[in-house]
Amino acid sequence: MTSIRLSDGIVKDEILVVGLAVKAAKAAKSTSSLQIESGDIALDTKALLQTLADLGATGKADEVIKVPGTATRLIVFTGLGKQSATYDNEVLRRAAGAASRALSGNTSATFSLPAKNENAVQAIAEGAGLGNYLFDQFRGSTKSAQKAPLKTITVHTSLAAKSSAKDAAKVAEVISTYTYLVRDLINTPPSHLTPESFCTAISAAVKKAGGAAAGLKVTVMTDSQLRSKGYGGIIGVGQGSVNPPRLLNISYTPKGVKAKKKYAYIGKGITFDTGGLALKPALGMEAMKSDMSGAAAVCAATIAIALLKAPVAIDTWAPLAENMVSDTATRPSDVITIYGGKTVEVLNPDAEGRLVLADALVKAQESKDLDGIVDVATLTGAQVVALGTRTSAVMTNNPEFSAAFVELTKKTGEAFWPMPLPVELRASLDSPVADLANIGERMGGMLVAGLFLKEFVADELPWLHLDIAGPAYNEGAPHGYTPVGGTGIALRSLVQLALEER
Ligand code: BES
Ligand code: MN
Ligand code: ZN
Repeated sequence: MTSIRLSDGIVKDEILVVGLAVKAAKAAKSTSSLQIESGDIALDTKALLQTLADLGATGKADEVIKVPGTATRLIVFTGLGKQSATYDNEVLRRAAGAASRALSGNTSATFSLPAKNENAVQAIAEGAGLGNYLFDQFRGSTKSAQKAPLKTITVHTSLAAKSSAKDAAKVAEVISTYTYLVRDLINTPPSHLTPESFCTAISAAVKKAGGAAAGLKVTVMTDSQLRSKGYGGIIGVGQGSVNPPRLLNISYTPKGVKAKKKYAYIGKGITFDTGGLALKPALGMEAMKSDMSGAAAVCAATIAIALLKAPVAIDTWAPLAENMVSDTATRPSDVITIYGGKTVEVLNPDAEGRLVLADALVKAQESKDLDGIVDVATLTGAQVVALGTRTSAVMTNNPEFSAAFVELTKKTGEAFWPMPLPVELRASLDSPVADLANIGERMGGMLVAGLFLKEFVADELPWLHLDIAGPAYNEGAPHGYTPVGGTGIALRSLVQLALEER
């Protein structure tokens, strides 16, 4: 865990992180094209700008330049891009993250970036926290060569003494800690992360967060319970694996206050997706260890929400299974019965996420006082084709709920884009033998998957379906506060949805 604190005093750390921006084009020739943005800290800008010019600094996003300092051992310049009087919070979050990522191997650093208000302080603290991540659990002989992340992050701000700023730092610390949990779970190889061990890890995290004293309760349904109670989706997907499926539930009830709202969160928890008998090609299949990103996000978000004492009740469900190939695996044309009675013809065992989610969606709706239901899933390759790896999709039966969610993602810096659920595509999911087929029209596959899930949600219950297939797992280079591997996407917005009721 990284500890995050605020300060408005003199910098005691050996490392000072400040911003570097690109001045507007029409700046006079004689002056530098760069602008140092060091918040409330005064620096010898003239000398530093000369040094930066000599080093070829550009001030662009994701550029981090370390310069020997006088008052501190190092001054680190992190790119803010175009100079602005009011930097976007996500610009600050990314700049802080790029810097903390570049500072592994050091103990502590003070971040002094332009922070106009508490939200900006939170963004800087969050970015610094989120970038400060290392996954070395599975290293042996190369472990000692890994540089440890910073132990302490200090955000320098004149607001440091305000309780609103302290709250912002606390939120950032919790967000960082539980994003690490999501990333750890995603990065853990399927040899070590099974439906059962996922439950063990979450139970341990809930206990560490205070368990019942924090308003949290965990229950796990085993495969035999799932079979006898009729969870045909989870059983059908998991039956090809020696690692039996589970249905994990976390409930959070706020302590001492009446919940202002109650949401159900549901996350796809496929600990590995081979495609089943519709076996995926070997090239790239390793990324399918990330197919439990939705489950990890909803579980970790629920714990974070409890620690932040949001006055909202959350009922979280993670249907967990391993989609494998074996003589017990579900065959194309098998018919399964989803919890509650709807039958599904499994035409493609690689469209497994919607099957486990259907069971969990139906189960979650047994709670009759829900104000909304949100599912999160690495559901379709079509999502990645449509929106790429940095933007997630949101689909809904309730445009107001979706619009409010998209609006709050502007605070969290997670990109979500609304996608339609066109009624014309629904007929493609008709089956000649069962109530529904698990695949339909290939074109618009993300929307077809959303329409499948919609069949399991009551029309009058506000529902969001978040397809995070692209953004959940970073197979490219690290950037901003995002490392390689599991990103932890959706956690911040799930937490913010609850914090909106504060
Ligand atoms: N887990 C995959 C979706 C996925 C693809 C996630 C790429 C992340 C990156 C999902 O289970 C899947 O295989 N979907 C199929 C559905 C198809 C058979 C209708 C797909 O998208 O190809
Ligand atoms: Mn699949
Ligand atoms: Zn999958």
